[in-house]
Amino acid sequence: KVLPIEMHQIKIVQKTHLPPASRRLEAMQEAGFNTFLLRTKDIFLDMLTDSGTNAMSDRQLSAMMASDDAYAGSESFFRLAAAVQEVFGLRFVMPVHQGRAAEHLLAKAFVKPGDAVLMNYHFTTSKAHVDLAGGRVIELFGEDALETCSCNPFKGNLDLGKFAAAVEERGPERIAYVRMEATTNLIGGQPFSMQNLRDVKAMADSFGIPLVFDGSLISENAYFIQQREAEFAGTTLQEIILEMMRNVDILYMSGRKSAAARGGLIATNRKDFYDRILAWLPVYEGFATYGGMSTKEIEAMAVGLREMTDPAVASSSADFIEYFVRRLAEEGVPVVTPAGGLACHLDATRFLPHIPQSQYPAGALAAAIYIASGIRGMERGTISTDRGADGSETLADMELVRLALPRRLYTLSHIEYAIDRLKWLFVHRELIGGLKFVEEPAVLRFFFGRLAPI
Ligand code: F0G
Repeated sequence: KVLPIEMHQIKIVQKTHLPPASRRLEAMQEAGFNTFLLRTKDIFLDMLTDSGTNAMSDRQLSAMMASDDAYAGSESFFRLAAAVQEVFGLRFVMPVHQGRAAEHLLAKAFVKPGDAVLMNYHFTTSKAHVDLAGGRVIELFGEDALETCSCNPFKGNLDLGKFAAAVEERGPERIAYVRMEATTNLIGGQPFSMQNLRDVKAMADSFGIPLVFDGSLISENAYFIQQREAEFAGTTLQEIILEMMRNVDILYMSGRKSAAARGGLIATNRKDFYDRILAWLPVYEGFATYGGMSTKEIEAMAVGLREMTDPAVASSSADFIEYFVRRLAEEGVPVVTPAGGLACHLDATRFLPHIPQSQYPAGALAAAIYIASGIRGMERGTISTDRGADGSETLADMELVRLALPRRLYTLSHIEYAIDRLKWLFVHRELIGGLKFVEEPAVLRFFFGRLAPI
């Protein structure tokens, strides 16, 4: 195995600061043991998310200088539409202020109370919008999708047997759409295969159910298909993305991730679907040619979409994550394997077997990592899963801490620092105790909830 290498040079820098351990402890207390509530002045390496935190390219920045501000008919929009046509082969595009805005519009346009939405796995915001529209998310993941220690290269695949059974049980007319999430976030950034996407599309077509593709992490999924699926070993990322899009009715994405920009979009070749969604766009986002984005963001996204088809860009976080995961696994630190896109995921269930799930082991581990290192990660476990309608706790399928690697932001020595601190913390894991809520919002509680050690 070779070392990953940065295929870019760094010409603008931002100074970092490593606060002493005493300040880190104080900052964690001030933040209610919730890493979302930390201030960046107290953070050394920010691995909370790869959303909106990627390094931008010189070309993206220069495109932003020449954006065309107009309420309607902006040339920036037409440059985005040209990039969408070129990269995805899709004719109709609607900008939105970010990915969850696309999810909101899709739920408005497609989900009626009592409808089901089928997914390879849910994402927090995608589920919230389906729930708010009165629908219900049904997850159709494969048998080992939730195994944190696995060799399955495509844990994001949707299970076709479960798909057929869900349609049989409810009837296709009560299924609003099937959603395929590229590089499935909450199970550890795990991809699906092209073959699975084709099979899901064929089955969806046979029932007349639209296929909605969440492409927020599309370039990483394309990269994994190229690396892991024999049929595509010699295929370019651009060709893989176009082949994916031939199997999709509607694409939506957060522009903040693979596209290394801000904002988001919805795109399709179906005029009827375009018209149905467009009706809501000015109500919630803005006029059809800006949809809540600034024209500068639109320009950066247009360039970012083209750049993400470059293997040096598509692999920039994936190869570093592979190294990060491999090194930790060699040290016996429990991580999710195979390595996925977006982040190195630690398995808190195996890291902290002495903390019961009701005491939020993933939340406790995220807080401990910050105190031990100044590194901010994100809890992806029971704290990120809201209570059921009757107020009872819903224990998450997995207790993960995500250490996200924004594209081209950190260097290999930053990763080495993280590995060193995590090794230390694993040896001293008995120092870590459980958490309880002291302030608990009802919806998406992980964002603003405050906790305390038990
Ligand atoms: N879909 C996926 C797969 C995502 O990962 C995200 C965001 C969204 C939709 C929503 O997009 O943030 O632009 O509104 N993921 C971020 C994360 C927040 O940290 O994983 P958004």
